[in-house]
Amino acid sequence: MLGALKLRVWQPARSAAPASAPAHAAAGRDTASDEVALLDAPQEGRRSGPASQEVRVRQQPTHGPAVAREPLGVAPPPVDAGAVAGFDWQALRTAVADCRACRLCESRKQTVFGVGHPQAHWMVVGEAPGAQEDEQGEPFVGAAGQLLDAMLHALGLSRAADGDPAERVFIANTLKCRPPGNRNPQPDEMQRCEPFLVRQIELVQPRIILAMGRFAVQALLRTSEPVGRLRGRVHRYQGVPLVVTYHPAYLLRNLPDKARAWEDLCLAADVLAQSKA
Ligand code: URA
Repeated sequence: MLGALKLRVWQPARSAAPASAPAHAAAGRDTASDEVALLDAPQEGRRSGPASQEVRVRQQPTHGPAVAREPLGVAPPPVDAGAVAGFDWQALRTAVADCRACRLCESRKQTVFGVGHPQAHWMVVGEAPGAQEDEQGEPFVGAAGQLLDAMLHALGLSRAADGDPAERVFIANTLKCRPPGNRNPQPDEMQRCEPFLVRQIELVQPRIILAMGRFAVQALLRTSEPVGRLRGRVHRYQGVPLVVTYHPAYLLRNLPDKARAWEDLCLAADVLAQSKA
């Protein structure tokens, strides 16, 4: 399929060519307008520098409550980033499942933690769960997820939780709860959910991060630049190489950009291959 489209077929140096990706053209979650730059109003408590700087979080006891104390009767208490920074996988899963730090907890069916190998070399960061993800409790299970899986498969990668970490991805979203009606994530929701993603990345320790769509880019790179201007080169998040690409839901509506997204994935694979050479 890739050859027919005159697209590059990426092949890992050390193994046989992976199966090519089937085309998926079904419509998906209609959220990520990746062409549009948007950086919201200054957000309470978010770190303001570029994401390549260290996130400063308080190192606190590892198993305290995951919410900080705030005056009663105002807003729900935010996630206690210092506590979350010390969580192991189990504590983190529990904290996400129990989170009531923003309004999305009222409308969600369940939280969507993330999926994949806990030591995957690849980490994919998307936007937020949609209706199907909210139902199933797993990210990217709808049409956009099928496209994502097909692209990953073409690189010899899967979201399986076991197996060779070099051939695995961990997939997480910037938000762990579905925004009602699949609306865009709000700044305060992103801010409150952020410690969970930060800790997921710390625990996985990926060798390459794929930021898919503008909300992942905003969360990880702290920039209002549109995806189209950030893709095609290597950024850094906490020292980890990061490649920006289009959100799969956007690709379902903008077929010409699929070829560009594929180039982005090949770039990420090249960066990783070079780092291992
Ligand atoms: N879009 C996302 O960004 N994440 C999902 O989990 C599903 C659709």
